[in-house]
Amino acid sequence: MIQTITAPAPAPLYVELARSLEQLIEQGTLRPGHRLPSVRRMSLQRDVSISTVLQAYTLLENRGWIEARPQSGYYVRPRLPSNTPEPRMARPMAKPSYVGVKDLTAEVLSIAVDPSYVPFGAACPDHSLFPTKKLARILASVGRNDPALLGRYAMSLAFDPLAREVARRYLQAGCPLSHDELVITIGCTEAINLSLRAITKPGDTVAVETPTYFGFLETLQSLNLRVVEVPTDPRTGICLDATRDAFANNDAKALIVMPSFSNPLGSCMPDAKKEKLYQLLTEFDLPVIEDDVYGDLHFGERRPKPLKAWDTDGRVLLCSSFGKTLAPSLRVGWCAPGRYLERVRRLKFTNTLGTPVVLQKTVSDFLRNGGYDHHLRSIRRAYHHQLHLFAQAILRHFPEGTRLSRPDGGFVLWVEMPAKVDTLQLHREALKQHINTAPGALFSVKDRYRNCLRMNCGLPWTEATDAAVRTLGELAKKQL
Ligand SMILES: Cc1ncc(COP(=O)(O)O)c(C=O)c1O
Repeated sequence: MIQTITAPAPAPLYVELARSLEQLIEQGTLRPGHRLPSVRRMSLQRDVSISTVLQAYTLLENRGWIEARPQSGYYVRPRLPSNTPEPRMARPMAKPSYVGVKDLTAEVLSIAVDPSYVPFGAACPDHSLFPTKKLARILASVGRNDPALLGRYAMSLAFDPLAREVARRYLQAGCPLSHDELVITIGCTEAINLSLRAITKPGDTVAVETPTYFGFLETLQSLNLRVVEVPTDPRTGICLDATRDAFANNDAKALIVMPSFSNPLGSCMPDAKKEKLYQLLTEFDLPVIEDDVYGDLHFGERRPKPLKAWDTDGRVLLCSSFGKTLAPSLRVGWCAPGRYLERVRRLKFTNTLGTPVVLQKTVSDFLRNGGYDHHLRSIRRAYHHQLHLFAQAILRHFPEGTRLSRPDGGFVLWVEMPAKVDTLQLHREALKQHINTAPGALFSVKDRYRNCLRMNCGLPWTEATDAAVRTLGELAKKQL
């Protein structure tokens, strides 16, 4: 048989131009802060049209290489040196453990909302990054146009137009979902809580990544569940061999995982790894709770596919919310519980009856008419930029030997300092300077991560922010 081999189509001109500029930035020919030639000059230099240059600059901007400054031009963004050491992976846990009560978690959370503290400890961007004014206008008009909404219970699983919007967005991300598979919840927190209650009973063991989001540990504690922590690679996510061991040797009954930009590591599992994880879950016939709250905050061009995209038999309970992208205080989240839909539906009913329709309608109106995609593009750029500024300041001010995660999405950094630094002590001392931090101890049930810290980089970069990072670094250096 004769096979015809067709050569791959050449990349469009603007992609070629963007690639060649990326190379110049990577090689250091164009350095951070450097201004790129104006669009007209570049078009003359490279003998391409103005629109090709504009498209190439927009592509580079979306990929986080350059930024446009109003009335000034395009500038190369700061980047982390590629040889910055990354945090080390933890060891597996010998046996499951119950979660102890941590007063520290409540303390960090209560101070997180106190505006007199620098909020390095919260995983919440500054309010200026959310479209609060537009949302406030929509909220007012929802109440004005249909006051009867306030006088009714929200008994259904979901406000239909919102569920359709959420499902449509997952379809775009390569994860077909039907709107009637969704339960709208009070934030992702309720979605996780209901999911755990649907698939476990007290005393069961649940596998989690380590380090993991302390909110999970609090929920597991409140449901009297045991935890087995699974080592997680700071880039590619949960270790599959260790997950297999947790299932085989520790009798884990479920897994909670953040495949796309985990908190606190920022790791993102490649598609092939997600597929293998799904196969492992099938082999052990176990359910998995997928937390996807950071999935929309990718810096690359493509939104990572949720694990749910591989779910052929309904074992993935996908949980998420608009808390990290649109407005944390509207508390609108969702759960796509697969084969556990009926159980989650009943638990939702006993938990909170329903999610306020006024809030669901506000979000769905914003999604339909408020420019959500435009907003997402602008916060992704902002988070990406701020992560780099924070990372550079940390490397400048923190003790020598500090290791840093390099997430491709989200807005938190995981910082590992030399072993002698005690971040609990650092936290106490930083509080005296009105700086709130999230010490590593919060992210594990074991005595781990004593020299680690999660940094919230969703804050505007100002001299005060830089000074607070410097203060933290100086306090840490004093301990050495
Ligand atoms: C991984 C993760 N899941 C869930 C939440 C809570 O989400 P929500 O505010 O929608 O309840 C957070 C908040 O920090 C988080 O980091």
